Amino acid sequence: MGEQEPLILVDNVHKSFLMGKEAVQALRGITMDVARGEVVCLMGPSGSGKTTLLNIIGGLEEPSRGHVIVDGENVVALSEDRLSEMRLNKMGFVFQNYNLLANFTALENVEVPMALAGLGRRERRRKAEWLLECVGLADRAKHYPSEMSGGQQQRVAIARALANDPPILIGDEITGDLDSETGFEVMEIVVQLNREQGTTVIYVTHDPRMARFAGRLIQLRDGRIVEDQV
Ligand SMILES: Nc1ncnc2c1ncn2[C@@H]1O[C@H](COP(=O)(O)OP(=O)(O)OP(=O)(O)O)[C@@H](O)[C@H]1O
Ligand SMILES: [Mg+2]
Repeated sequence: MGEQEPLILVDNVHKSFLMGKEAVQALRGITMDVARGEVVCLMGPSGSGKTTLLNIIGGLEEPSRGHVIVDGENVVALSEDRLSEMRLNKMGFVFQNYNLLANFTALENVEVPMALAGLGRRERRRKAEWLLECVGLADRAKHYPSEMSGGQQQRVAIARALANDPPILIGDEITGDLDSETGFEVMEIVVQLNREQGTTVIYVTHDPRMARFAGRLIQLRDGRIVEDQV
């Protein structure tokens, strides 16, 4: 794929969930593309489809209709194996609830994706230490998630998402549970990553102050894009 191609292409994506006999229309024809190196903020009321859209871009859910192309690959058509590989190498996901493994230390949590990608023990330890240092948590490497604050856990989750140098970082309300100062710190890390490594970022927030970190703001309402502005 040439550099001019959008990194992420979402084409007329629909998603409906069947709830008993009723279909819930979560997405009603989303079309957008994201260029390499963009930082995109997604906003919209609760239930407008933000998480659903992120999950479909990440191949965690299938659209009912439409296409998603990520880095030249048709996500919807990929086998489960190729999808896992794509998630492991091309995308870092940060979820609102951190999703850290409770019985693993911060360091071990960051090592998991590297172990899955087949990186050797020594190398992944070294890199995990470095990543924790990058997010300001070198001194918490041996702590378990229950021994860290929300902001610290979120930073571990970011370090973990970055473990395999993904060109894309996807964050669902990564600052949702944080006080605003910690939230700003987390966003600074993300923006710095974009500046220094060209990482493409898509993140969801409810907080207009967190939206300022983006170069582009997309507003969803009832499963549709109602605004897309630079
Ligand atoms: N697994 C599911 N089964 C049924 N309905 C679902 C499912 N996931 C999402 N929905 C519905 O799809 C719509 C969009 O949900 P989604 O989670 O994408 O919203 P959101 O914009 O992320 O909201 P929030 O800001 O509250 O996180 C909602 O009406 C929701 O109830
Ligand atoms: Mg959501």
